[in-house]
Amino acid sequence: MSAADPSAFLQIQDVVKDFDGFIAVDNVSLDIAKGEIFALLGSSGCGKSTLLRMLAGFETPTSGRIVLDGVELGSMPPYQRPMNMMFQSYALFPHLSVWDNIAFGLKREGLPKERIAERVEAMLKLVQLGKYAKRKPHQLSGGQQQRVALARSLAKQPQLLLLDEPLGALDKKLREETQIELVNIIESVGVTCVMVTHDQEEAMTMAGRIAVMSEGRFLQVGAPGDIYETPATRFVADFIGNVNLMDGTLDVDEADHCIIGSADCRHYVGHGITGVVGMPVTVALRPEKIHLSRHKPGDDFNSVAGTIKEMAYFGSFTVYHLELPSGARLKVSLANVQRHRDDEFTWGDAVWAHWSRSSHVVLTQ
Ligand SMILES: Nc1ncnc2c1ncn2[C@@H]1O[C@H](COP(=O)(O)OP(=O)(O)O)[C@@H](O)[C@H]1O
Ligand SMILES: [Mg+2]
Repeated sequence: MSAADPSAFLQIQDVVKDFDGFIAVDNVSLDIAKGEIFALLGSSGCGKSTLLRMLAGFETPTSGRIVLDGVELGSMPPYQRPMNMMFQSYALFPHLSVWDNIAFGLKREGLPKERIAERVEAMLKLVQLGKYAKRKPHQLSGGQQQRVALARSLAKQPQLLLLDEPLGALDKKLREETQIELVNIIESVGVTCVMVTHDQEEAMTMAGRIAVMSEGRFLQVGAPGDIYETPATRFVADFIGNVNLMDGTLDVDEADHCIIGSADCRHYVGHGITGVVGMPVTVALRPEKIHLSRHKPGDDFNSVAGTIKEMAYFGSFTVYHLELPSGARLKVSLANVQRHRDDEFTWGDAVWAHWSRSSHVVLTQ
């Protein structure tokens, strides 16, 4: 995963951050194209903010290079970098109006009055807060404050926008609405954006590409759909969304299919893998790709008998926990497309779970 594209807008090359022997960022490389919205995703403490802070210039890499638009940033101080960082606690000035909050950085830059007014008006229009220009931050909702913070970050027309857990302070519903609003605003300006989040839904909704991070390293970089449907490792499969992981052995490996034996089931997978017959592998199967029926399916592959031990109702879907013959559990998620069903599955039912030949992924690490 070494950066190789010298024309990329932002190049992160072999970057390491060592805090007195603790490696917070462990030799990461990444190319980001102009106009991309890119997310660094990982659990708390994995090094996301440290990497973002190195981009911003608040930390200096122990080794490696960061190049923006052909210019190596080296130890250039934050205020000289053509970028702006928006933090989780968006730190609006409480005593200043919305208008003055947005104008703050422009005034400090010494821009002429008319230019400042022009820019602030444009930003207010962009985030649709023109009517609120005279209000103080505490007179706005959390989502509106977030938009003011974004307007302030964009006012200086940065080439790179850095967002650290931008929506962490908002509750779930507001966060989901604001995610889409922010993306629309960022895309309409066309600014390249690197964001940090521990929330996978946020990363999937907002970013065109994601780097999944753990212990200072990138485990996988790709579009949300690629990472979800084709996780490279058990860790990534488990970290992103819900998954059933079934350990087994590679029994048959042909160019167009492979067969894997696991405790409860024989898996027929509609593609070959690079492996050796007999090797241990893991089958990853997403709960929503599994069907339930009361009768044994025709195909001996990709089906298993089980008993419903638990059910969790989520409104739009229900997750069933099946106990399999080996004692292992299988999670199955069914969409609730009808309000009532006469033949609804319930606790204690003996059922068959089955799935198609293109539903699962074989993982070797
Ligand atoms: N200035 C620092 N000195 C020492 N350790 C630090 C410093 N900043 C961050 N760390 C450590 O580096 C690791 C990564 O931190 P951080 O990048 O903030 O994680 P994340 O943003 O993914 O939650 C953590 O273990 C943290 O304690
Ligand atoms: Mg952080």
